[in-house]
Amino acid sequence: MDNLAFEMHEGATQHVSFVGKMNTIPRMEEKRQWSLLSVFLACLLACTVTTAVGVLILSLVYINNTQLHSEPELRATTIAILQKAVDPKFQFLNHLPKSKVFEFPGGAIQWARYRNNIKDYLSIEEEAFGRSLNSQRSQMTLGTLRIKSNGLRAPHWHFDANEHGYLVQGTAWIGVVDDGHVVTTYNVTAGQVIFFPKNTLHWIKNVGNEDCFFLLFFSTHDELQTLDVDDVFFSTPEDIASRSLKPEGGINFIRTFHKQKEDQGVNLPHNLAELVTNASYTQSPDNLVWRYFYDLKGSKEYRFPGGIIQLAQYWKNGSELSKNEKIFSTFLNQHQNTLALSTLKIYNNGLRQPHFHFNANEMGYVISGCAKVGIINTQGTTEFDIHIGDVIFFPIGTQHYIKSACDEDLLLILAFSTGDQLQTLDMDDYLQATADHILAQLFFKKQSEFKKIPKFKEDQAINLP
Ligand SMILES: *[C@@H]1O[C@H](CO)[C@@H](O)[C@H](O)[C@H]1NC(C)=O
Ligand SMILES: *[C@@H]1O[C@H](CO)[C@@H](O)[C@H](O)[C@H]1NC(C)=O
Ligand SMILES: *[C@@H]1O[C@H](CO)[C@@H](O)[C@H](O)[C@H]1NC(C)=O
Repeated sequence: MDNLAFEMHEGATQHVSFVGKMNTIPRMEEKRQWSLLSVFLACLLACTVTTAVGVLILSLVYINNTQLHSEPELRATTIAILQKAVDPKFQFLNHLPKSKVFEFPGGAIQWARYRNNIKDYLSIEEEAFGRSLNSQRSQMTLGTLRIKSNGLRAPHWHFDANEHGYLVQGTAWIGVVDDGHVVTTYNVTAGQVIFFPKNTLHWIKNVGNEDCFFLLFFSTHDELQTLDVDDVFFSTPEDIASRSLKPEGGINFIRTFHKQKEDQGVNLPHNLAELVTNASYTQSPDNLVWRYFYDLKGSKEYRFPGGIIQLAQYWKNGSELSKNEKIFSTFLNQHQNTLALSTLKIYNNGLRQPHFHFNANEMGYVISGCAKVGIINTQGTTEFDIHIGDVIFFPIGTQHYIKSACDEDLLLILAFSTGDQLQTLDMDDYLQATADHILAQLFFKKQSEFKKIPKFKEDQAINLP
């Protein structure tokens, strides 16, 4: 304010001195000066009018560009803008079961993500969520991957993201090929975590009898860029493929490969039994496997009165980790923009009390149960219910709470956008830590009143009434 006032004052002074000078100039010169001045004023007027018209045109063009379908009439524009008013909760909530299902011969994929082209969103709610992920630079995208028995998520790699997966159901055999062409293969079962660093080639095959169901978190808020090995093969000129692979029969052998009509992203040939005669496979040694694998279900349980937390993350102090868990923790930390994964179980009526994270955005998926979720940011509080299949997003620093509301325990799978140890502060901890005379002054309340807020021996991160 001070600066603004100062500038205005200075401007006024200059104006006064200009007028003062004018008065001292001789008549002739004064006349010329006046005609110059009028030319100047005319130009100024013209300029102003042109600018105003320009701004008007620009703003009309802008309004037309920001609406979904460019109707020519201004009335239609207004309606479109009104229709775009979406409940603010959808910045933090995505009803994934309602989103588009991408079907493949061997399974299906669904997404909670940002899209470059807003026409790719099915609804304004989905758009609000995607925009929110992107505008917060969240480093988050979520996909669910269902693979039928014997189905295969084709070997592929991602240009722009690390991938962290949680297997909800089934048994899968994983292969990872790194830049040293070392291949690591291993089995995963429900409750375990997989990690594929950016650009490592990987495949996932369902080797059990039931469907595999994966939650896949990708460390990007842009569109995920992926290449499948079959697509790359068919895009490579035959002579180049022949020269590179030097097969028996040369280019004629290459020509015997035929691209399928349907996208084979998740594949399952009808005649698989005819094609595959020996499906035996090996498990790589632990020092390789545990770089890409973490037994989250089998890891240390952090128990609270109202629930349990488990974490697959980098630990600064790894002294409580097993030898294999240390391999995972160290390997995560060697890569940029990795994620931490976690399970959060909250018993019926339990409350994950208000807290926030210093160093990570958070994304979560509801596996079971239901809850009321609250988010407090600089705009105020947003509260909403979540059910199985819903995806939530808590931007870094926003205070959030989760209250389990169904008979069944709430189970959330959470991902955090940090390759460091997650940093968290709970409401009871920061209020206890704040001097009671500061609280007295802040809340207009006698200092002694704050003795009524008890300190507990046990951490109350997830508490019961
Ligand atoms: C099946 O494949 C495995 C691994 O590739 C190999 O070690 C084994 O000898 C094969 N068995 C037969 C019968 O070909
Ligand atoms: C992986 O799981 C399959 C199916 O349960 C099993 O047949 C196979 O022996 C397992 N492989 C290893 C290496 O553990
Ligand atoms: C690491 O954790 C262990 C057990 O929690 C503790 O005894 C030890 O002092 C810690 N080390 C450091 C360097 O903080």
